[in-house]
Amino acid sequence: MTESLDGWKRTHTLGELRLDHQGQEVTVMGWVHRRRDHGGLVFLDLRDREGLTQVVFYPDVAPRAHEKAHQVRGEFVVAVRGTVARRPEGTENPDLATGEIEVRATEVRVLNRARTPVFPIERDTGVGEDLRLKYRYLDLRRAELQRNLRTRHRVTATVRRFLDEHGFLDVETPVLTRSTPEGARDFLVPSRLSPGAFYALPQSPQLFKQLLMVAGVDRYYQIVKCFRDEDLRADRQPEFTQIDLEMSFVSPDDVTGLMERMMAAVWREVAGVELELPFPRLTFADAMARYGTDAPDTRFGLELADVSGAVAGSGFKVFAGVVARGGVVKGVNAKGAGNELSRKEIDDLAGFVAPFGARGLAWIRIQPDGAWQSPIAKFLGDDARAGIARALEPEPGDILFFVADQAGVTNLALSKLRTHLAERLGLVPENRWAFCWVTDFPLLEWDEDAKRHVALHHPFTNPRPEDVARLEDAPLDVRAQAYDLVLNGTEVGGGSIRIHTEDVQQAVFRALGIGEDEARDKFGFLLEALSFGAPPHGGIAFGLDRLLMFLCDAPSIRDVIAFPKTQRGTCLLTDAPSTVDPAQLRDLHLRTRPAGGAGSPGS
Ligand code: AMO
Ligand code: AMP
Repeated sequence: MTESLDGWKRTHTLGELRLDHQGQEVTVMGWVHRRRDHGGLVFLDLRDREGLTQVVFYPDVAPRAHEKAHQVRGEFVVAVRGTVARRPEGTENPDLATGEIEVRATEVRVLNRARTPVFPIERDTGVGEDLRLKYRYLDLRRAELQRNLRTRHRVTATVRRFLDEHGFLDVETPVLTRSTPEGARDFLVPSRLSPGAFYALPQSPQLFKQLLMVAGVDRYYQIVKCFRDEDLRADRQPEFTQIDLEMSFVSPDDVTGLMERMMAAVWREVAGVELELPFPRLTFADAMARYGTDAPDTRFGLELADVSGAVAGSGFKVFAGVVARGGVVKGVNAKGAGNELSRKEIDDLAGFVAPFGARGLAWIRIQPDGAWQSPIAKFLGDDARAGIARALEPEPGDILFFVADQAGVTNLALSKLRTHLAERLGLVPENRWAFCWVTDFPLLEWDEDAKRHVALHHPFTNPRPEDVARLEDAPLDVRAQAYDLVLNGTEVGGGSIRIHTEDVQQAVFRALGIGEDEARDKFGFLLEALSFGAPPHGGIAFGLDRLLMFLCDAPSIRDVIAFPKTQRGTCLLTDAPSTVDPAQLRDLHLRTRPAGGAGSPGS
């Protein structure tokens, strides 16, 4: 039998009661976290989102309540009336905020019963993630996920307050819309009223926020769901949330300057940490040269150095040959690694870089007497040695590692090796927030599969004014007024100053191989808007979920989202995506084919 709340009103949450409340009559409500029967007494630890409170039932003081308490089970929902008392000496629990008191029950009501939970509501559930996702509402009862939800709320609340104070308007943009090119596949929604036509879910509100600038909104923001049908990784979800904003009449420094103050406000409010401003700024070219990646982890050194010049004429044919073919040889000095890595570990590192395309990993170990021990040392003459020494400043105990290949492979392999070595050698400091801005990205890159140039950020990014003239003859040299925010080696946000004139937008479309007809067809509304007096404008979007992974120290993006999807893009709780009623398909003018069956595309 369950009972109603009738006439009872909650007076306190379960995280609230302290010694100050001693002697007070209280009414508390929550879930039975644990029940213990002890020498005639029954103890219930009651739980709500604020915490745990111990309730004691004495058989002689309140026999009816005691009898009922004896019957309840884990996760029953109960309401208790009683008196706050100091716990007997020696039974205090210092790990609990309410650990000095207990509530001595006089009455109890069972508001609802519960089946035995599928897993314990504890820090370590001991079950696989699939089961946790299927019963997400139970998983979310755990303190860890409750804390993450609360942190998420505090981040968005801080962001909203900050942006409000700086004149930003929260404006909603459509979810049923046209394709926005952010480089991923679209999720499509068939239209019932326009047979054969589809909406696309937005990959970002990019075009609408630009239109809002044309509309004179001046400063826009939105904490907004974005949808991208891409292969999922630990920090990617098919629907995720951006802190998205746009500003009129601004330079890149205006945007990055304000945004780092917003990050500082968030870290102050949520992590209690004062970030050092301004964040370091690195050009894309410097980031690639020094770290081999546009999202460098700057918590530790181990910077890369180019030794192509030093080894071009050396007797080591692999290095000389790569340089002769236009490739690069770069190295990293693993400081002190000589005392840490065994010969086998050093050899195994070649296997670590292989998946990134590196065909080998050369190394030099500096002996205590300064001699170079290495499979390649005998091929290196005095000039090569001197050049390498200048670039990497080797000292006894260091190991130098080298990759020789085309720039893309060399940088990728060494950037991965750099982080791997830093972790292996314990060079990554804990509790450091290494933010940096990466600026001056190339506007375009060559897509080998599509055999054409594609936008590195998106096609609405403004080239640097002095580079516009080179769009035709040297498009890959054109730099963009784009900036990414990187935190501990992860891109957490990206944005740019946008093109605000029709002619530059047309020129960029041409450089992207988007013909005039295609441009009119896909982006006619944007080009038209630009022709009606668009102000100079720019903005940025942050991945809210990624920021939260840092603030919550969560290993997976799913831990900071209330109802996330699996790596396969499914929702185990609701069983989405699912097949639909044939009548619904008919309404939508759609017919499905058996997946992978005869006649399906690609079979
Ligand atoms: P961009 O595509 O760089 O820029 O996205 C901005 C930020 O969103 C986050 N992000 C993701 N987070 C989780 N799952 C995903 N699948 C995912 N994809 C992206 C990243 C990224 O830095 N319209 C532009 C912004 C602008 O120019 O103002 C845009 O969407 O943290
Ligand atoms: P080899 O002469 O091919 O046995 O190579 C001698 C050393 O150079 C080995 O340690 C290889 O791992 C390394 N090596 C071979 N190719 C490359 C390359 N492309 N980049 C860096 N090191 C290489």
